[in-house]
Amino acid sequence: MSLIAYYTSLLGNISPGLAGIICLASSTLLILIGWVVRTRILTPYRHLPSPPGLSLKHNHSSLTYSTPFGQKWGDWFKTYGNTIVVRVAPYHREEILTIDPGFVRYVHANVNDFEGSPRLGRAMVDMGIHGAISCAKGEKRQKIRAVFERSCSLAAMRGYFPRFINLAYKARDKIMEELESDTEKRSGKKPINPSTHAVGYQMGIVSTVLFGFNEEDIAKGRSTEVRDTIMAFHKARSELKWWDTKSLFRTPRYRRYNRSRDQLAVVGKKLLRDKQEKITRAFGQDLKSDDILEAGDDIISTWCRLNMSKDIPASQKISDQDLADNVPIAMAATLDVSRMMIYEIIHRLASHRDIQDKLRKEFSALPEEPSLDDLAKVAYLDAFLDELVRIDNAYTTIERTCTRTCVVPLHDPITLSNGQTVNSITVHKGTDVSIPIWNLSADERLYGSDATEFRPERHLDGSTKGAEGGTAIHATWGSSAGFSGGQRGCPVYQYPLAFMRAFIFVMVRSFEISEPTDQDVKIWVSSSAERREHRVNNKPVTWIPTIFKPISQDV
Ligand code: HEM
Repeated sequence: MSLIAYYTSLLGNISPGLAGIICLASSTLLILIGWVVRTRILTPYRHLPSPPGLSLKHNHSSLTYSTPFGQKWGDWFKTYGNTIVVRVAPYHREEILTIDPGFVRYVHANVNDFEGSPRLGRAMVDMGIHGAISCAKGEKRQKIRAVFERSCSLAAMRGYFPRFINLAYKARDKIMEELESDTEKRSGKKPINPSTHAVGYQMGIVSTVLFGFNEEDIAKGRSTEVRDTIMAFHKARSELKWWDTKSLFRTPRYRRYNRSRDQLAVVGKKLLRDKQEKITRAFGQDLKSDDILEAGDDIISTWCRLNMSKDIPASQKISDQDLADNVPIAMAATLDVSRMMIYEIIHRLASHRDIQDKLRKEFSALPEEPSLDDLAKVAYLDAFLDELVRIDNAYTTIERTCTRTCVVPLHDPITLSNGQTVNSITVHKGTDVSIPIWNLSADERLYGSDATEFRPERHLDGSTKGAEGGTAIHATWGSSAGFSGGQRGCPVYQYPLAFMRAFIFVMVRSFEISEPTDQDVKIWVSSSAERREHRVNNKPVTWIPTIFKPISQDV
């Protein structure tokens, strides 16, 4: 009001309406000037290459369910180089996007400079995964991480491996049942929906290896209760629209989802209590860390045992609440990311018959129920997995936030808009940094001139020498960032690798897998964060029709 009065007095006898318009226009102009000064002059990243204007990428982690829109990151890298700054609408948050191997290496190797992004933490909370490792910080996070690592060590996986093989044979039997019920399917004339069998396999892993349900639990309906709760949670989550989680609109969909995640938490806690009681009954109050077998009954029991041992100092233990809070992430990762990887395995086997034949040949010398060590010796299988994790990864982006201003050395010098060429950049505290895994995996210097092709041989013929076995980017496993790297990389990578090995072995030995000849399958990317989806004959699909033809000597 006082501004309107000021204009009225300044410009003489003008109407308050006109003064109001002038007032509005001049305030808008001032805000605009201030905004331009802040975003173009005061910003420390003003000279870094950047797509013009503002990105419409949403302010959330690409791991959440919303679909952002705008240009694709891949196009930006081609146009502006490997390290760019993106300005996010509407309030101009700067985010560095990088596929520079030097930058990636630094981020992975220096967890104290680049911690997990608060956006990822918020996304996890939105997904109902409160208090999980991704939201925890500092020492607490390291302790939770140690629990994950220890329960899924290579030694533990050796112990669990017969269960994986057994579950893969069960999946094979289910496929056989489906084939038996339809002669066209059995003769390979008609495809099946493999996704139900992939879900069945992963559910079996959750039930037997993660939770260790035995016959009694199954008879008492405990495993069914957990399965139904998980399914209800997944269904409610998949129905959410991005606006449902915003505090302004708490829609019925959101409330339904909220109820399902509360139910999941209740089931998780009940499960932990049961395990703790069982361990106390077996070991009394005197449990020692020596009693913790590397291959415990199941992964969650190993968590409890470790936490209940008398000779482990309290400072190294995590609270029961932390244990319970991390059950959903272990479940979600075993069911979501890993299930997607199982789909990709089936798709790659079906679309690359030559690769499938090579694997079958390698497996022919192995017993029907090989050990993990037997399969780990098959170099071509490891090459297949390395390739899968490299370019078929279910994770799109590694998200970090700079927690301490630091100078990051670059692999590829950058020419700034002021003409200067630099070999390093100063990243300021609070800046978000995203590493798009697939775009990094397309780097020809790291993975060879055909980097975007699926070709396991590259890991055996020296084509990936630029990646230096993954050390060029400080990778957790393999040659790529598929399991991320350093102290925030996937702490349990031995676990998915083990169950993927078992699944591939049994499927390749039991079936000739192919796709119908009239079927055109394309992997396409939607959204700026390049989320992968499949299209069959130009239509988006959630599963790819696949032909399974039994190999007679095996069944
Ligand atoms: C093939 C399947 C899997 C792939 C490709 C994968 C990949 C990854 C990647 C890329 C990250 C790093 C994310 C980031 O930096 O933002 C990660 C972290 C993590 N993964 Fe996995 N993962 C897989 C399966 C699993 C499974 C089955 C579990 C369940 C126990 C799991 C547990 C975790 C945890 C707890 C973290 C967070 C680590 C931390 O913040 O310190 N992952 N995973």
